[in-house]
Amino acid sequence: MVLLGVNIDHVATVREARKTNEPDPVWAATLAELGGADAITIHLREDRRHIQERDLRVLTESVAVPINLELACAADVLKIACETTPHQATLVPERREEVTTEGGLDVVGSCEKVANAVRRLKDAGIVVSLFLDPDPNQIDTAAGLGADAIELHTGAYAHASTRHHTHDTQAALTTLIAAGKQVRAAGLTLNAGHGLTYRNVKPVASIDDMHELNIGHSIIARAIMVGLEQAVRDMKRLIS
Ligand code: PXP
Repeated sequence: MVLLGVNIDHVATVREARKTNEPDPVWAATLAELGGADAITIHLREDRRHIQERDLRVLTESVAVPINLELACAADVLKIACETTPHQATLVPERREEVTTEGGLDVVGSCEKVANAVRRLKDAGIVVSLFLDPDPNQIDTAAGLGADAIELHTGAYAHASTRHHTHDTQAALTTLIAAGKQVRAAGLTLNAGHGLTYRNVKPVASIDDMHELNIGHSIIARAIMVGLEQAVRDMKRLIS
């Protein structure tokens, strides 16, 4: 069975839009758990645009399923990860001006930095995953860095599928399948995520030996749509 890690960053995005205390990511994590989430994924970004340090600490203490913390190879967040010891840490690249994580980690260009980060996290007893583009060179280098898993960046596939570019979608899927084989041949756990939606998830979930998919935006987007009607009814009842 393929596991689902639900990324709740965008619950915090809505909260931070007003710098208030709702919606609460901890409440969202509990609802995701009730819905069957196998893990809760959060990204503690350097600019703290959504998830805050406190969220990580409270979630680690209150959520029953494993926490997957996405973080950059930066000293301050590595220190926080080693102190809070989430079940899994996924190392991702980070650029301040990006809207979301736009590409995989460049492990070829920053081999030593990533290897050091992996070592620190592993020494703290954390399972380590590396977020990579489905690029054979990156996977080859990553295989020697001591990580437990590789999360393949599904952005190119997702982008093509959202635009209904059938040929590009199929080509991107073929690339993901080959990369998945390479990850498994290297003895690493295979995860994937980014841009996956209710429409495009099935072929990725069907890739051999897929362990875990991390999905955020599409699930939170649907939650607004399936919950908004009730939320308006509740307010109408109060004011009338
Ligand atoms: N996996 C990683 C490593 C990510 O950085 C993100 C985005 O935060 C996701 C999965 C989830 O992507 P999306 O929100 O597009 O489902």
